[in-house]
Amino acid sequence: MSFKAAKRLLQGVIMVSAFASSSLMAAPRDLIIDTDPGADDVVALLLAMASPEELKIRAITTVAGNVRLEKTSRNARLAREWGGREDIPVYAGAGRPLVRAPIYAAEVHGEEGLTGVQVHEPKAPLAEGNAVQYLVETLGSAPPHSITIAMLGPQTNLALALAQQPEIAKGIKEVVVMGGAHFNGGNITPAAEFNLFADPHAAEVVLASGVKLTYLPLDVTHKVLTSEARLKQLSAVGNKASRMVVDILNAYVQHDMQQYGMPGGPVHDASVIAYLLEPSLFKGRDIHLVVDSREGPTFGQTVADWYGVLKQPANVTWIEEGDAQGFFDLLSARLARLQ
Ligand code: RIB
Ligand code: CA
Repeated sequence: MSFKAAKRLLQGVIMVSAFASSSLMAAPRDLIIDTDPGADDVVALLLAMASPEELKIRAITTVAGNVRLEKTSRNARLAREWGGREDIPVYAGAGRPLVRAPIYAAEVHGEEGLTGVQVHEPKAPLAEGNAVQYLVETLGSAPPHSITIAMLGPQTNLALALAQQPEIAKGIKEVVVMGGAHFNGGNITPAAEFNLFADPHAAEVVLASGVKLTYLPLDVTHKVLTSEARLKQLSAVGNKASRMVVDILNAYVQHDMQQYGMPGGPVHDASVIAYLLEPSLFKGRDIHLVVDSREGPTFGQTVADWYGVLKQPANVTWIEEGDAQGFFDLLSARLARLQ
């Protein structure tokens, strides 16, 4: 075989293997992000928008939580603008929890729901229609177990959609929830984490639906903390998105650092997106979970049977460990892709 023929053959082999490996790369996850922006929600949204190879964001659906719905919806549109992804529709959803009186966390996220940065009215408007209807129609017509939901706030929208049409559960691949707390107690009460406390009845509806659920509770998000070095690492990315994230986090972490005396602050919701991008950064186990919606000191508590003492079937994957530096390495690398 002449040199030229051999070279042609080798080039052909390289092309075929390159094609094979690229087609072997997993297809991006079909993703809906349900959120109550919220400082850490915005960081999560930017991380997700910077990761189109892995995450095909179908829509952002907003809910009242950290602040009222008008502001969480505006902040979601702001994040979309800052992420350069105004192609992603933002649907506004529930303005209040299913049963309990609304509560907010402006003392943590600021009156505008976004600490550390100036907010403005974004150019791109909300999508027509309500987030709950969007969930019913989209999940109801999706192929079986095809759509992942990143649940970054109270679970009200999904609970309302499931109550309206329980069959939509079939369209859900997995719901990855930032919420709950077990080993070290809550952040809004000694027993409860904010997202669950803000609407425990909704969390019970989602839990009862039987969808595949993965929880990233305070057990793990309170281990993935900022530090001076990590904020410097983010600053070193040197673009607008990273400067925005550093300004937001510098302001956002003050509350928890003072409240808990922690050396740094959590970036709760971004851990959900990091889990979807690099699950190997996290560890957990399948356990039986119960949500307490009874009035009283344990209202909103997540009772996580970590040691299986109740001998009940597992109904969630409960994430308890996270590689903090790996998280910040991922966040820095992805923010570098934005403007
Ligand atoms: O407890 C932390 C959670 O509550 C985060 O999702 C934060 O954004 C707030 O919604
Ligand atoms: Ca949130």
